[in-house]
Amino acid sequence: MTRTARLGILLSGRGSNFQALQRAVASGDIEAEIALVVSNVEGAPGIETARSLGLATVAIPHEGRKRREHDLLVVEALREAEVDWICLAGYMRILSPAFVEAFPERIVNIHPSLLPSFPGLHAQEQAWDYGVRVSGCTVHLVDDGLDSGPIVAQATVPVDGCADAEELSARILSQEHVLYPRAMGRLLSERWRVAGRRVVFG
Ligand code: GRF
Repeated sequence: MTRTARLGILLSGRGSNFQALQRAVASGDIEAEIALVVSNVEGAPGIETARSLGLATVAIPHEGRKRREHDLLVVEALREAEVDWICLAGYMRILSPAFVEAFPERIVNIHPSLLPSFPGLHAQEQAWDYGVRVSGCTVHLVDDGLDSGPIVAQATVPVDGCADAEELSARILSQEHVLYPRAMGRLLSERWRVAGRRVVFG
């Protein structure tokens, strides 16, 4: 029998995607357990929520540390917790190659745009300012580029009817909360492989 997947969640802020994943784990929609929640920001709302849920948490501040040095501390904490999958959930750091190589094809991220459009920060504002009529969100495997790994799943969100970028962000966020648990559920329960830029199921 294969053991239940142990998830490590990395976050820097609000943590609403973490909560969506946690609800899916708690309800059994995702067959996994959350082994550790890590934040680079002590006192981030997401880590407070994790604590209040009784989950194992650790804050590893990045200030005063080189990126690789910080990443290796995070990797060490994840290894100690015997984590085998990592979900980035609003983790505002680019991972160094040393981190990515430590968990090949086992790091997942959600980004609030239809990649490859609008990578990086403030994706929703970028989409709004550009004037696109459709945006959305993307779940992808993480490589050492910026929002550039193979795509697992995407959901579209219409821009029409939004008054501003905030309203668009809220629409996208509610789709993120559906897409991320669904994509993680598939990665954990189905056969898949990476073929070029694509994650192919089946
Ligand atoms: C989300 O928009 C996610 O797509 C992006 O960062 C934001 C995190 O929000 N990567 P939350 O902390 O999950 O509420």
